[in-house]
Amino acid sequence: LTELATDRAKIRPLTLADVGELLELRLRNRDFFTRFEPRRADHNDGYTTGSLAAQTENARVDAETGRAYAFGIFTLEDVLVGRVALSNVVRGAWQNATLGYYVAEEHGGKGYATDGIRLTVHFAFLRAGLHRVEAAVMPRNKASIRVLEKAAFRHEGFAPHYLQINGVWEGHELFAITTEDL
Ligand SMILES: CC(C)(COP(=O)(O)OP(=O)(O)OC[C@H]1O[C@@H](n2cnc3c(N)ncnc32)[C@H](O)[C@@H]1OP(=O)(O)O)[C@@H](O)C(=O)NCCC(=O)NCCS
Repeated sequence: LTELATDRAKIRPLTLADVGELLELRLRNRDFFTRFEPRRADHNDGYTTGSLAAQTENARVDAETGRAYAFGIFTLEDVLVGRVALSNVVRGAWQNATLGYYVAEEHGGKGYATDGIRLTVHFAFLRAGLHRVEAAVMPRNKASIRVLEKAAFRHEGFAPHYLQINGVWEGHELFAITTEDL
């Protein structure tokens, strides 16, 4: 995997050298992210060096085997501002992946999520051979819905009780983009 860039953001796979900066970003934004992210087991919660190092190493192996693709989102000056990932990759007749993403609150509203997602969709279709990328968002996560609209995802419907966020099975709005939309 290489680096992809727009005129205001770039994405590239994270390495172990990024883990310190990523941990600081996540700890600063813990309350913010916790409101919108599924809760993970303690050893895997993304708020320790160990869990982020394991996540980064797993992402490297997954990318090599085509099972998932994850990137850091960076400013053009190489400041890490967030992360975007394609997971649950299914090949065969589906060629589909699930999109997940976050951008630090202090870097919000500058288009970093939108550009990171655009670049990731570009990667999904033109490099990873996928046909469809889907994303699910809680109705109250207005910024995230706006980001998907800006990145040209289409709203496909509402899925009740879709995903557990902070112990509650939250309904989600489902969005997707396919290669036909390019
Ligand atoms: C959602 C998130 C990724 C957005 O990142 P970002 O870099 O700020 O996004 P962008 O700058 O590309 O775009 C944000 C858009 O949302 C809009 N927005 C922000 N807060 C909003 C609100 N409360 N209501 C409506 N729109 C809002 C902004 O105005 C902007 O749209 P605009 O360009 O038309 O003005 C980020 O806030 C985040 O990581 N949140 C926590 C984790 C999360 O929710 N992840 C996604 C789970 S599905």
